[in-house]
Amino acid sequence: MAAQKIKTAILISGRGSNMMALVEAAQLETYPAEIVGVISNRPGAAGLEKAQALNVPTAIIDHKDYETRESFEQALHKQLISVNAELVCCAGFMRVLTPWFVSNWKGRLLNIHPSLLPKYKGLKTHQRAIEAGDTETGCSVHWVTEDLDAGAVILQDSVQIMPDDTADLLAARLLPVELSLYPQALSKVASQMQTMLNP
Ligand code: GRF
Repeated sequence: MAAQKIKTAILISGRGSNMMALVEAAQLETYPAEIVGVISNRPGAAGLEKAQALNVPTAIIDHKDYETRESFEQALHKQLISVNAELVCCAGFMRVLTPWFVSNWKGRLLNIHPSLLPKYKGLKTHQRAIEAGDTETGCSVHWVTEDLDAGAVILQDSVQIMPDDTADLLAARLLPVELSLYPQALSKVASQMQTMLNP
């Protein structure tokens, strides 16, 4: 009998191209994860409609509806439990998560970050790489831990920085690399989980 697919939820805040790449990869019969839901903290996120078009259940947990970060995260946590999520992929999810949430999802929470971690944690990664005179940058899929963008890297890939690059040009050149990397990383983690659950 084929191993059970690992139920995976995706957290987004915007465009949702990484989310789409994960959803499309997971449509393959042999892929070890299935996408059980997409949750956005922004009601207007373009990714929501894209997910709905692919028949993925969506939910909006708007952080502005909650007085504290903790109460927002409790609602998020509840939604993840309600779709039976075993893994959670942050994909352009623009909220910093508290230690409470991170510890609840420890070892089950992934993120994609547009730099070659441990370089350039946080925002404006491309601008910082250009200003530093780097000749390459890239993206990292990593475990989310209590410290921002500091968890162990699962997979990384790189692109060259050209002499007249801007942050926007670089982001556009990197995007297809991200869209290929994240599904590979989720596949790796989900396969390992399948083996752990069914040795
Ligand atoms: C990606 O570049 C990702 O690395 C960063 O935010 C962007 C999200 O894009 N964290 P999208 O929403 O997946 O299109």
